[in-house]
Amino acid sequence: MSGATPLLELRDVKKYFPAGGARMPWVAPRWVKAVDGVNLSIHAGETVGLVGESGCGKTTTTRLILRLERPTQGQVLFEGRDVFALKGRDLQRYRQSVQAVFQDPYSSLNPRMRIGDIIGEPLEAQGGLSRQTIKAKVGDALSLVGLRPANATRFPHEFSGGQRQRIAIARAIATSARLIVLDEPVSALDVSIRAQIMTLLEDLQRQLGVSFLFIGHDLATVIHISQRIAVMYLGNIVEEASADVLSATPMHPYTRALFAAALPPDPFEAPITAMVEGGVPTALAPPSGCHFHPRCPYAMARCSTEAPELLPVDGRAIACHLYSECRSVPSS
Ligand SMILES: Nc1ncnc2c1ncn2[C@@H]1O[C@H](COP(=O)(O)OP(=O)(O)O)[C@@H](O)[C@H]1O
Ligand code: SF4
Ligand SMILES: [Mg+2]
Repeated sequence: MSGATPLLELRDVKKYFPAGGARMPWVAPRWVKAVDGVNLSIHAGETVGLVGESGCGKTTTTRLILRLERPTQGQVLFEGRDVFALKGRDLQRYRQSVQAVFQDPYSSLNPRMRIGDIIGEPLEAQGGLSRQTIKAKVGDALSLVGLRPANATRFPHEFSGGQRQRIAIARAIATSARLIVLDEPVSALDVSIRAQIMTLLEDLQRQLGVSFLFIGHDLATVIHISQRIAVMYLGNIVEEASADVLSATPMHPYTRALFAAALPPDPFEAPITAMVEGGVPTALAPPSGCHFHPRCPYAMARCSTEAPELLPVDGRAIACHLYSECRSVPSS
């Protein structure tokens, strides 16, 4: 699979936002480095998980993929083509091929539109489809997400949070999307509903062969649904591996802390739960060198001056000076 052209690829993508405040020419401009050199690929039919604390750049990454933001630097490629160079029919095809489901099913559906119009909107935009065809495709999409096609005439407020998320998923699949970006799609739902939506997503992937970029807070959920996981810290990917490898042996000190905080402790593993202290520094003033160094119990002198590169180590990619020479798991 790795030899084939990825469905979607991010190449050294950066997104810097100008920091607020008056523009004063004698003051050097300041930037929020929301995404700072991300490389990531998603293959056909694959689910890639993206995890990291709030503010590390996950949503900005999805907005770049959806073309809602333009990269400050770098490229987003879809089937090998730069998505910011697409025009006309090619751009329209990209918009149909890449869909999104967001966290809040209450604000993501227009309350004044009927469900059928919400799901049919991207099909209308496609042009050239008869009303009958659109109606049939909307009905099919509703059936696929476990809702009756007759619901097309109703309004969002008539549905529960879980049902609304099903409607958002129906809208995403109606255009025969190849990639769906799921930005915390179950975080706002009741715990009892989350498992149902996760099962639905897995079923849809099996049936349709669609790829997912799945962003989630709950690590166990992300591990369960993803084949591969990328861990982000302050705009950078610090570790990337298959979900199995990462959950069995997280190696980057930040990944290890994230897993230790989220998963039940392993009695044979020396405790590292308490190692990460303090809040996440801001993307406006990220620490020098390795951004994680002020919170890292393994930090060495070079960590505060030299940014580690994401390098292949032991069947994964990792950005940490601990592994650039010794290339083995440090004892805790
Ligand atoms: N439009 C924007 N203007 C300025 N800063 C932004 C903007 N969007 C996001 N940011 C900042 O970029 C950083 C990453 O945000 P975000 O991508 O939303 O992270 P996450 O989804 O991982 O919580 C944060 O510091 C956030 O405040
Ligand atoms: S590069 Fe240094 S500070 Fe950063 S995670 Fe590795 S050991 Fe810790
Ligand atoms: Mg976010």
